[in-house]
This record gives sequence, C-alpha cells and structure tokens, in this order.
Amino acid sequence: MQATTAQLLEQPVLLQQESQTLLKRFSQQLKPLAKQRWPELYTRLSTQLPALLRLYLSLYAERYDCYYHLEQLLKSLAKSLANRPDYLCQLDQQPQDWHKQNNQLGGACYVDLFAGDFEGLKQRIPYLKQTGINYLHLMPLFKAPEPNSDGGYAVSDYRTTMPSLGSMQQLAELMAELHQQGIRPVLDFVFNHTSDEHSWAQKAQKGDPDYRDFYFFLTEAERDRYAPSLREIFPEIRRGCFTQDPASGLWIWTTFNSFQWDLNYANPAVFNAMAEEMLFLANQGAAVLRLDALAFVWKEAGSNCENLPKAHLLIQAFNAVARIAAPALQFKSEAIVHPDEVVKYIAPTECQLSYNPLLMALLWNSLATRKTRLLTESLKRRFAIDPHCSWVNYIRCHDDIGWTFDDNVAWQLGINPEHHRHFLNQFYTGQFPGSFATGVPFQQNPVTGDCRVAGMLASLAGVEQAQLQQKPQHLEHALARIYLLNSVILSIGGLPLLYMGDELGLLNDYSFSQDPAKKDDSRWVNRVKVTETQLVQAKKPASLSGKIYQQLQQLLSCRNRLAVLGQGSTEILDSGNPHLFCYQRELAGDKLLALVNFSEQTQHLLLPATGSYTDELSGQRYQAGTIQLAPYQVLWLTPVSS
Ligand code: GLC
Ligand code: GLC
Repeated sequence: MQATTAQLLEQPVLLQQESQTLLKRFSQQLKPLAKQRWPELYTRLSTQLPALLRLYLSLYAERYDCYYHLEQLLKSLAKSLANRPDYLCQLDQQPQDWHKQNNQLGGACYVDLFAGDFEGLKQRIPYLKQTGINYLHLMPLFKAPEPNSDGGYAVSDYRTTMPSLGSMQQLAELMAELHQQGIRPVLDFVFNHTSDEHSWAQKAQKGDPDYRDFYFFLTEAERDRYAPSLREIFPEIRRGCFTQDPASGLWIWTTFNSFQWDLNYANPAVFNAMAEEMLFLANQGAAVLRLDALAFVWKEAGSNCENLPKAHLLIQAFNAVARIAAPALQFKSEAIVHPDEVVKYIAPTECQLSYNPLLMALLWNSLATRKTRLLTESLKRRFAIDPHCSWVNYIRCHDDIGWTFDDNVAWQLGINPEHHRHFLNQFYTGQFPGSFATGVPFQQNPVTGDCRVAGMLASLAGVEQAQLQQKPQHLEHALARIYLLNSVILSIGGLPLLYMGDELGLLNDYSFSQDPAKKDDSRWVNRVKVTETQLVQAKKPASLSGKIYQQLQQLLSCRNRLAVLGQGSTEILDSGNPHLFCYQRELAGDKLLALVNFSEQTQHLLLPATGSYTDELSGQRYQAGTIQLAPYQVLWLTPVSS
C-alpha cells in the first residue's frame, strides 16, 4: 500500500524508499537531459532527493499535481547541471567554509555607480584587490522598468541585463574573471516579486489563468482577509500592500512599490520557474545569491505574512535544489526583521550567510548614546549561530537603517523602545541638539510615526557636519568613529562587508531630490557615484579619503595576521563600564580581547587577569590591572606568553 503524505513526512525510512522509487522511475528521462553530468546527478539525487521531496511535499502535497511538478523540477535540475560550466563544477567539489577565514572581506556596489558598466568593473578589479576585497556583491543589474525600478529590485527578466551595463554574456565573463582573480561574485536573487513588466506579469494582466496564478489577483473581499494584519513597507509612496489592476479591478499584492508584484509561492509552478532562474544565475558564475526580502515570500490570511514557517521551508527547498544542481552556491539572507526572526534563517540547510542588521543598528545606537548596554545585552542573546554559517557584518548598505532591536531587551534595561527609536531618528537626521550626524529620514509613516534613516557612513559618523562647520576636532572624532565601526565588523566574527564608497568616506549625495524618478526615495542619498579621481585619493594619506582608507587598511593588515579573527569563537562580555564594548575571540587556545570605547571621554577598565597584553593594533604593551582607553580608542589585546 502506498504511504500517505503524513507517513512520508514522519518516517524517514519511508521517505527514503519513496525517493528511491522516484529516482528509478525518472532515471530514464533525466539521464539524457543531464548528459555528461548524469553520474554526479545520480549520486547527488541518491543522497539529496529525500530532503527535497520532504520539503516539496510539506509545501505542495495538497496540490493534486504535486508529483507532476516535482518531475518537472527534476528535469530542470538535470538540464541546468548539464549546462553548468566546468570551472563551477570544480568549485562544487570543494568545501564551502571560505567565509570563516580571517582574510575574507566583502564589498557591495551598484555596477553603474561604482564602475559605469561591466567593462568598467573589470578595470576596477585591481582597486578591489588592493583594498583586500574577495567577495563582491553586484547590485541588481537585470532588465528593469525605467526610470524607476526600486534601484533595480524590480526585475523584468532574470536572464537579461540592463543594456547600459553590457550583456549577460559580458556579465558571465566578468564573473569568471572575478573568480580567476580570487573574488567571489554575489548576485541578488530578487525572488519575492517581479516587476510588472516581466513577461509573466504581462501575461497575467492580459488574463492568462496560468500566469494569474503566479501572482495574487484578489477580489476586494479576499484582499480584506489579508490586509488588516500587514505592515506597510513604503508608506510614503503608497498606503497598504495592494495595487488595483485597472483592467480587472482586482487587487494585486505589492508589498513594496506598486510595480513590484509579489509572487505566489503556494503555486508549485512559481517555485519551479524561480528555481530555474536561480540556477541560471548560479551557472553564470554567482558564488552567493543574496535572497532579497526573503521574510515576505509566504502569505497566510490572519498573519502579518512575514517570517512564516513555510517561508523557511521554501528557502530550504531552494537550498536543496542548489545542493543538487549547483553545490558551490551559498545563500545570504536579507531579513531586516526582529532579531529572533533573523537568526531563524541561518542554517547550513537554509542560508549559510546572513546580514547582521542587529549589530549594524546597535553600533549606530551606541555611537549616538555613548552607551553599550543595549549592544552588549542584545548580542549576548543573538550573536551565536551555527558554526558552519557566518554573519555578514556591515555598517552601511544601499538601504536605510531600521532600528530592529528587541523591545523586550530594551525594556529590561529601562529603555522605552518607541521613545528610543524616535530619539535615534532625531539623532541621525541631525535634529537632536548636539548630534554629529547628517542623515535623511526615510519612509515616515504618518500613522505610526515610524521612520528609518538614510545616509552614507561618513555623513552619519560626523564628517559632513565637521567639514561644514570647519571644526578639526569634530573631524578627528568623526574619523575615529569610522575607524571604531570598521574595527568591530572586522573583528567580532563573520564576513565584514563594505559598502563601496564608504571605504573612501564619500558623503551623501543630495542630487536625487532633483530627479523625479528618485525624489520620493531618500535611500538615493546613500547611492553615490565613485569616480576615478576619488579612487586616486585612496593612496594619498594626506587627503581625507586617503586617511579613512589607510585607517581601514591598517585594521585589515592587522586582521590578516590574526587567525583567531577568522574561525575563532566569539564571546560577548560585560565590561563593567557602560561606555565600553568588549568581546573575546578564541581559537584553539589563542585568545584576543577586543575593547572599544564608544565615548569621546577617556575610560577605564579593570583587566582582572594577570600578566601582560599586546595591543595588536598599536604594538603597545598593557599590564593586567586598570587600563585606560582614549576617546573612541579600540584595543585588540592578545596575552603575552611568559
Ligand atoms: C530589499 C532591497 C531593497 C528593496 C527591497 C524590495 O530590501 O535591499 O533595496 O527595496 O528589497 O525588493
Ligand atoms: C527590506 C526590509 C525593510 C527595508 C526595505 C527597504 O526588505 O525588510 O525593512 O527598509 O526592504 O529598504
């Protein structure tokens, strides 16, 4: 008798048997599709099919055509593997723990802003290498509506690039070249939505029932089953999460902009179609895919439609697909949500990498308040992750800063989270008296009063204001803040990620407000062009950009000597001084103690151990006992062996 879905899901032995039966049944069809790669495919399916089957059944067992879709998916995997370039198949054989090494450094850029086009980017490889970058996130470069495409995050065709950047063929060549040069290319997988100009969306709009099912076309009553519990992401641009289709009068689900149509993953045809797009990108050379807006991919009435259990199963299913047809591929989670939810996406079977929005937001918080309690308490709870996975630690990116700390932790420390977020918004938009920051508000919600902040690292850290006011001491402090922030992302554990332009201290660009397609999205203030002239500054230590760049280089060369900063474990410590942040790294008995002074006052700390320490950054010796940290000073202390 055939096992039921429930039995298959509960009993691994039955699942295993079912997978073997399927593999036998489909082998004849898959073999010619996989061509010369059939032996690999067969081996991988023998071990991985049970996982994929379990996930597929968990998501789609209720569909009468579930097995039909599974069969189609397996055919796509076979075809994709047959087309996978040899150099990537070689990478598929290697271990994927590169992100844990102490020499790893990421960069993120828009191709057009950073280098003009794909050819220009090739020319910039020497600069990237000089900077130490060996992981490069190229932000959306796919065909997208013009002039407004949410910075490219509304994709009209995953297999065509923006003509102004070059062709897909050129992108593939660029990525192969990056690999050659020891830089792993990272692309976005914008899989929550397509643009309304995608051929699927256009067919849906014309009424094609198969493609209608790719999206959510809802009656008013259906819409109202979902609407009340949803969060608004871009409230300044449009209220609510739905956009009315003028032709049918139906409501299309659009979490972000009206031209970004959410995909309906309850339909297995959507999963299969997007799995094909994903593998296409992997075969062009992407080593990592950044899973854009992954928190939103599964919807259920009555919930807020964020971080639902099936969103996790869906991502795991994409991951299972990758393990079979592109094993070198890794996923990076872009979950800018509550810290408890962020960590749930991180697992070897889900996302091996994840942005660390909690660290990012709380570093800025500590600079504003000069206090480290919220940072320390929050990271104590939420820094530990699976040892095979890595945080991607960043200070700024192309998006806004959202204050996504845990309200409960704030309350425990006597901080009213709502008031505190209000303070942080005021502080970083320069409205709070004495603030050093020059940021811009992003998406003020007229109902909740919620708001986020946009701005480049240097502007938010005080460089812009200090220059305007011509205050040298303020400028010194601003540079010290940049150094301090960089020091933390380089040493706390994980892959540090620079937002290109920040390494040179480039300031906000306000010209977006003159551009009708950009003026309503203040994140453009931190999407700045990086010119050749600016790059030249990197090598001139007397220039401001040169200083910022050289400071970073000093940190990097120190980090590259210290293996403990790669694989080492991280323990967040109480410093006993409210202005100091303190953590210890440890690898096979080697220890490094990082001490960071978040205030512009001298601070003291009692080092309880005995013996002496070397500060790896300055070479200076410290004796155990009370030690002193200068304003914004950072120490990387290693014990001196006696
Ligand atoms: C991600 C992107 C952001 C975009 C959104 C919708 O958060 O980083 O720029 O607006 O997804 O695609
Ligand atoms: C992201 C985030 C949201 C962010 C937005 C646009 O997906 O979840 O908080 O502000 O997109 O940047």
